[in-house]
Amino acid sequence: MARIKVFDTTLRDGEQSPGVNLNQLEKIEIAKQLERFGVDRMEAGFPASSQSEFESVKAIAKTIQNASVTGLARAKKSDIDCAWEALQYAKEPRLHIFLATSPIHMQHKLQMSPEKVIETACDMVAYAKEKFQQIEFSAEDASRSDLAFLAEITEKVIDAGATVINLPDTVGYTTPAEYGALFRYMKENVPNIHQVSLSAHCHDDLGMAVANTIAAIENGATQIEGTINGIGERAGNASLEEIAVALTIRNNVYPYHTNLVLNEIKRTSDLVSKLTGMVVPANKAVIGKNAFAHESGIHQDGMLKNASTYEIITPEMVGIHESDLVLGKHSGKHAFSNHVQSLGYTLSEEKLTEAFQAFKSLTDCKKEITDEDLFTLLTDVQTVS
Ligand code: KIV
Ligand code: ZN
Repeated sequence: MARIKVFDTTLRDGEQSPGVNLNQLEKIEIAKQLERFGVDRMEAGFPASSQSEFESVKAIAKTIQNASVTGLARAKKSDIDCAWEALQYAKEPRLHIFLATSPIHMQHKLQMSPEKVIETACDMVAYAKEKFQQIEFSAEDASRSDLAFLAEITEKVIDAGATVINLPDTVGYTTPAEYGALFRYMKENVPNIHQVSLSAHCHDDLGMAVANTIAAIENGATQIEGTINGIGERAGNASLEEIAVALTIRNNVYPYHTNLVLNEIKRTSDLVSKLTGMVVPANKAVIGKNAFAHESGIHQDGMLKNASTYEIITPEMVGIHESDLVLGKHSGKHAFSNHVQSLGYTLSEEKLTEAFQAFKSLTDCKKEITDEDLFTLLTDVQTVS
């Protein structure tokens, strides 16, 4: 099974989520948890963006022992120097340089000709190589770039010293078939591509970040980038926990694995949510409050007979204690009876039917029935003879 390297960017692209601002202690706490989670590479921040960001990256570089610590830099000497100042203390320092390659970005944002973009990218990778052994070059907005141009700049930055080539879907525009084809094209058209790792970095503007990342893996990506809980610019980045679980659950079809410790998912997700203040939506795949909750009677009955009827992931796999059979208006008698027993009540068949009817009436006015509601209801049923 091919090993996929995981590049976590929760502390950089994730922190770019509007309204999120992590202080140094919070960043270190998350970095340590990412290390426990087993990420191979973590992007600690963008050192040149502010003094406090610089200090945070430096502190993370000094702390983390079991992952390569990375910092982001524009294709500018001052950014690269600043990143080195912060990252030189890391066990395995890594630089992430980015420069846009799409016509839209080159013309409107950079106001540079394609030739100048190639020259700048190569000069800055060569400059960085004097300090860093590991250099990732990101062709920003790769998915909207001209393929021949992308192949040309890639070949040249590899010659200049890049060790990883990242092809970001910066604006979450692409689809799985297109993104997969992009990786295939690069493998077939860049003569020195075998010297580097190819990386996928997807945004979720059209809700396809995870699917696009998996398509990239199928077509030659050996590194994936993403964030915990999928936080990030606009609609966010690919959720690392979703990709890791998808590869594990579907490894009959996708023979790839990561080194992530899946039962650390819940703890990592909770920590990131608490410190960023970004609440995980209840229906979020893998980690949302409802991901292991079942309300309808038919589903609850199936679950009580065999959990694999309605769960493809076990809660334990991702560090969640157990599934939840929620009592609500769709619940059936089987789940109700089970719950009543778990609260310590043993009812005759007649009393159980009576209690179930009372419960159903209660669901007409309450969405979710709590244990407190049940205690009241069961006491009433038991005291009426
Ligand atoms: O989405 C993107 O293009 C980025 C780059 C900096 C890699 O985050
Ligand atoms: Zn990004």
